[in-house]
Amino acid sequence: MTGEPVIRIRGLVNRFGRQVLHDGLDLDVLGGEVMGVVGGSGTGKSVLLKTIIGLNRPAAGTIDVLGQDPFADDEAAVRRLQARWGVLFQDGALFSSLTVAENIAVPLKEHGPGGGMSAGLLAELATLKIRMVGLPI
Ligand SMILES: Nc1ncnc2c1ncn2[C@@H]1O[C@H](COP(=O)(O)OP(=O)(O)OP(=O)(O)O)[C@@H](O)[C@H]1O
Ligand SMILES: [Mg+2]
Repeated sequence: MTGEPVIRIRGLVNRFGRQVLHDGLDLDVLGGEVMGVVGGSGTGKSVLLKTIIGLNRPAAGTIDVLGQDPFADDEAAVRRLQARWGVLFQDGALFSSLTVAENIAVPLKEHGPGGGMSAGLLAELATLKIRMVGLPI
């Protein structure tokens, strides 16, 4: 783990109508740290994650991910930040119409070098990544 937080949350407030989910939440996640968020259904775990990745604008508080505000007005900066994280949602983590290798290639196509990579290179990189996590090809 490294000293500087990768995710830094201060004074987070999330509420929907009269329902208060987060009331002044502070949280640091350090580089290399693996953190689980545990709680009953409907207590705000998914809303917390959506706030961290800029999908749910909080009522108050500050979010800093890799030194940047995911709600910043600078769209290009936010897009560069989005290219640095991976998110698997609770339901439908994969595109069901694509193979596993094609799913892995999606961010490489989206955020890869300008001009795009050849289909052969994409397939090769997908195979490499599947091998890296110890899955059979
Ligand atoms: N966009 C929204 N508008 C209004 N209410 C919302 C919105 N998003 C979430 N909620 C409500 O906020 C509460 C927390 O939802 P959340 O999805 O974060 O729960 P959770 O802890 O992830 O639950 P689970 O364990 O079932 O996944 C729920 O009562 C939910 O209905
Ligand atoms: Mg959830």
